[in-house]
Amino acid sequence: MSANLCTDTFPRLPDAQTRLLGVIGHPVSHSLSPAIHNPALAMLGLNMRYLAFPVHPDRLPQAVRGFAAMGMLGFNATVPHKEALVPLMDWLEPLAQRIGAVNTVLIDEQGRLHGYNTDAPGFVDALLERHPLSLRQCNVVLLGAGGAARGVVAGLLEAGCQRITVANRTVARAAQLIADLASHYPTAALHAAPMQEAALPLERCDLLINTTLLGLHDQEPFPLSLHALPAQALVCDIVYAPAETPLLRAARQRGLATLNGLGMLLHQASRAFTLWTGQKMPLDFVRQRLLDML
Ligand code: ATR
Repeated sequence: MSANLCTDTFPRLPDAQTRLLGVIGHPVSHSLSPAIHNPALAMLGLNMRYLAFPVHPDRLPQAVRGFAAMGMLGFNATVPHKEALVPLMDWLEPLAQRIGAVNTVLIDEQGRLHGYNTDAPGFVDALLERHPLSLRQCNVVLLGAGGAARGVVAGLLEAGCQRITVANRTVARAAQLIADLASHYPTAALHAAPMQEAALPLERCDLLINTTLLGLHDQEPFPLSLHALPAQALVCDIVYAPAETPLLRAARQRGLATLNGLGMLLHQASRAFTLWTGQKMPLDFVRQRLLDML
């Protein structure tokens, strides 16, 4: 095989200038992030690689210090590391501080760790890409009060949303989420509610967002009826596999517009990519590859 054939046939192989990116999680083998970032890096001819690292929660501080010491360019974090990363950062973006979770870290030339949350604006990017809503005017009902809910609520508030009801099985957790964010967004009307139809303003809801795994494992229909939603309401789920969750199926059957979590996954990655490389991710190319894979 000639040297030319090698170069033409294979993508550029790593060399001594290759910069390393990655994702940490526990487990991490399910992560789609390498399949998002590596094709994007290759397409733009960037000499970088993105790998998945299984990091046990007990070894998170060691892993992070090691990444900085090795001159890694940055990394993403998935479950269960997003909250635990916060105190390990040298600098935190205000939004990540408010949410209390970091999903993207940029390591500077001095090895300092800069923590960001791209999940929150990634959700809003995905929403507005498909549905040009005026978030300021929207009545939002959001189901769940876990880590994912916290990011989505903060993203919506940051984008100017003024009316959000956070409904959760454990109402105290919804109330805590609101208490943590309310002082940063003093003009917004935020309410906590139990996850029961009668307690939710569904008839005035423009945007219903599910951040729980409700109905996903048991193949049962979604436990909340959508009959009270107005015909123009948009129904979102942050899950992307399956592409149509029980909630989205119920919404489609009612003739409502739907959005799954694939766009959020892509847009959080796209924002991280730009932080690390200074370049725009080729989104359409990456989206098509992902759709082919899933
Ligand atoms: P994540 O970080 O992915 O949001 P989490 O922090 O474990 O995960 O939050 C899971 C969310 O799903 C919570 O809002 C949880 O409600 P509780 O706070 O009451 O536990 C919700 N959830 C999980 N299983 C549920 C169920 N069977 N019925 C209703 N809500 C459920």
